[in-house]
Amino acid sequence: MEHNFAKGLENIVALESSITFIDGEKGILEYRGFDIAELADMSYEQVSYMLIYGRLPDRNELKSFSDELKELRTISDSAFNVIRFCNYNIEAMDALRTTISFMSHCDPDLNDNSPEANIRKGMRMIARFPTVVASFSRTKHGMEELEPDPELSHSANFLYMLRGTRPSELEARILETDFILSADHELNPSTFTARTIASTLSDIHSSVIGGLCALKGPLHGGARMAVMEAIDEIGSVDKVENFVIGKVEKHEKLMGFGHRVYKTYDPRAKVYKKLAKEIAEDRGDMLWFDIAERMEEIAYREFVGKKGKPIYPNVDFYSGVVYKYLDIPSKLATAVFAIGRISGWIAHCLEQYSDNRLIRPRAKFVRSEK
Ligand code: CMC
Repeated sequence: MEHNFAKGLENIVALESSITFIDGEKGILEYRGFDIAELADMSYEQVSYMLIYGRLPDRNELKSFSDELKELRTISDSAFNVIRFCNYNIEAMDALRTTISFMSHCDPDLNDNSPEANIRKGMRMIARFPTVVASFSRTKHGMEELEPDPELSHSANFLYMLRGTRPSELEARILETDFILSADHELNPSTFTARTIASTLSDIHSSVIGGLCALKGPLHGGARMAVMEAIDEIGSVDKVENFVIGKVEKHEKLMGFGHRVYKTYDPRAKVYKKLAKEIAEDRGDMLWFDIAERMEEIAYREFVGKKGKPIYPNVDFYSGVVYKYLDIPSKLATAVFAIGRISGWIAHCLEQYSDNRLIRPRAKFVRSEK
């Protein structure tokens, strides 16, 4: 029997989903029927509710959802000890994976795979990802961990727990939009990994941890950190041209550019570019934004000139610039991406469990020479 073969599963439709719609040719992205531009005006809590329950919450539902997240933010002393132990050896994504794994052992719903228990477990992860990431970063830099601030929203509280001071309204709103834009993107590698694990009827913590491991890679969420490091390495606008041309000539990847699905400008990158400009102007320092914008121009010119087709920034490009202006360390960038993506992973796992079929593709066998 002949099977279809597409390396990297390119353009293969693996399952049905009602969560996110992407038109890669036209640059359209919608969560549950809402366009990216409308989503950017919502709160992360609202978007998370919608991803998980399939519809927008009414006012009371949103309040109780947000209050529940606030109540769940605190983590146990033993979880703090795991974070402190991680601190000596590893970076943020590994610490997050290890701490979430540890926390799953203490979860009261550990052995319950019902939809209700999976939502409860999901809520604990959404609420606690920011606490774990901020606490890891503070201990790594020799600072005391902070208690969550119940007066603050999900995004504002994360910045407070990370930096030790309450963020400005603009900073909190920009990070909120970042969490929303990061929350879901159909069958990206980490979500596909999480769904594949869920499809074996393994538990939701294992599925999320698998998603984290996939997100870490530099071709996926790890690109955001690489963008921030590239901007530091370049240092000034006049050095951009040589940097980009050097990458193209050496056939090296320009991190934060290109996309498997979008054949045009990534709609998320458009929003991030506006946010990056806004926060740069607010800080009165355009350097990082100007470097990034020049990278975009030169990359476009070089690709059109040398390869006959343009290349555009993806979600990880201007988000890296935004993180720099928010004083988020580059080594934390992928973990901050995960704080946004967790609600998408939870929604996809719930959808997978609700109409499960084991995900099990085939390989084209290629006989090796003896
Ligand atoms: N820099 C240089 N060349 C590139 C890039 C890039 N960033 N992206 C694609 N190309 C070239 C590639 O070399 C190839 O050229 P040719 O046809 O001459 O061989 C062509 O474009 C097609 O590239 P591909 O790697 O086959 O395309 P893909 O669909 O497998 O790649 C990608 C998608 C995201 C892996 C790739 O664009 C890439 O490696 N980008 C850099 C890493 C990155 O920014 N990742 C974030 C992805 S989006 C958000 C997320 O998942 O977090």
